[in-house]
Amino acid sequence: PVKRPASGLISIEQRSASVEILPGLRTEMMTYDGVFPGPTLETRRGETVTVRHTNSLTLPTATHLHGGHTPAESDGWPTDLLVPPGFEARHAGHGAGHTGGHGGGHGGDHETMDDPKAQVRTGKRDYRYPLDQPATTLWYHDHRMDFTAPQVWRGLAGFHIVRDDEEDALSLPRGEREIPLMIADRAFDEDGALRYPALDPELLGQPGVEDRYMAGVLGDVILVNGAPWPEAEIEAAQYRLRLLNASNARRYTLRLRTDSGTPVRFTQIGSDGGLLAAPVEHDEITMASGERFDVVVDFRSLPPGTTVEMRNGLGTGRTAQVMRFRITRRATDDVRLPERLADVPEPEKPDGAVVRRWHFRKASVHGRRGWGINGKPFDPAVPQAQVPLGSTEIWEFFTDAHHPVHVHLSPFQVLRRGNHGPGPMDLGWKDTVDVRPYEAVRVRVRFEKYAGRFLIHCHNLEHEDMAMMAGFETV
Ligand code: C2O
Ligand code: CU
Ligand code: CU
Repeated sequence: PVKRPASGLISIEQRSASVEILPGLRTEMMTYDGVFPGPTLETRRGETVTVRHTNSLTLPTATHLHGGHTPAESDGWPTDLLVPPGFEARHAGHGAGHTGGHGGGHGGDHETMDDPKAQVRTGKRDYRYPLDQPATTLWYHDHRMDFTAPQVWRGLAGFHIVRDDEEDALSLPRGEREIPLMIADRAFDEDGALRYPALDPELLGQPGVEDRYMAGVLGDVILVNGAPWPEAEIEAAQYRLRLLNASNARRYTLRLRTDSGTPVRFTQIGSDGGLLAAPVEHDEITMASGERFDVVVDFRSLPPGTTVEMRNGLGTGRTAQVMRFRITRRATDDVRLPERLADVPEPEKPDGAVVRRWHFRKASVHGRRGWGINGKPFDPAVPQAQVPLGSTEIWEFFTDAHHPVHVHLSPFQVLRRGNHGPGPMDLGWKDTVDVRPYEAVRVRVRFEKYAGRFLIHCHNLEHEDMAMMAGFETV
């Protein structure tokens, strides 16, 4: 993806663009700045960045910075903090759509943006991100009520990387040897158009259609950074891969092996919310939608010409393939992974903490089958919990199906999974946890700084759109 330093005020235009994804075919997408994935924003910890999103699409949007410790008004609340399409603004009769286009002396961009009502008329919104949080891999994506899944599917997703001095001081692969990998499945028509089956007008309204997508929408093409099953040319060196599962509903179990069948391991150095205390080795990484795994892979011992394939143990046929790395040459590599990476407290259960239970299960949504939390479909007007700022709570997630649970605002640490401690994929600071049927997951979460309305939801984006979401309010 295109990299962009982001501090102070930066602008992103949401617009439709025709992108070549499948060789020789054009795909019409909803994009951030005309590219898919959107530009990779890079910010240093604590350098507040204001991202001015201009909506030149024909639909409303809401942008959420996933994993960001963000004030409520910039968190992308899916109903009343939308960015309406600018074209609507231009036809709204106020003539305020074109900034500076009316009443000389008034209507400069600056003035327009100070007035929230004017923001709405111009199809713009300023999102302010203080990013006072440890270095990590965040991502931004659409979050519009009922339409998150199709709008992300159509392209509204990008990385936002936070860096800090502590991480910079560590010996880690960097520069060309640090690669963000956005893994996302999609489906296409023969002419290259994206196919989002739930929106197929021929299917809508037919009996059984809702049931058909109750598990979410899967694609048969695996994209990595917007390219189908790509091959990356690399050197025989250590690489830092920032893995993100940006798929709507697909889970992956990623494994690496050489063309001669030798497995290559992952050394996990970080998860959703930042670095782990110490590196941890894995033979495989299982990721649900929304999760990130920051790993180092050591290709040093492989001779040039070797190919290493990343496969998906949960796929079949072509969805079992993800991407390949081809080693082109030997290279020097001075990186010596540190034994200690960051100060991460042991996830202990605080005495006397409030325990709150969130039951992810089916619910009826306007009389139709859908998904809910604690028996209720999402109601933007009624938060399901009030949490005092400065408090630490135990949240327990329970389901009878598979749901990746995501909490906005605050990262958490997994305390228990079922009858055991945290699983191998639960290490460090998480904001999304893969909750499996009948296996209660308990996490410890501390709420800090920003008062307002935030969300907890299933990150299977179809489930989210089918109302498996709840508001909570920090006070
Ligand atoms: Cu990545 Cu509320 O979502
Ligand atoms: Cu989020
Ligand atoms: Cu779900």
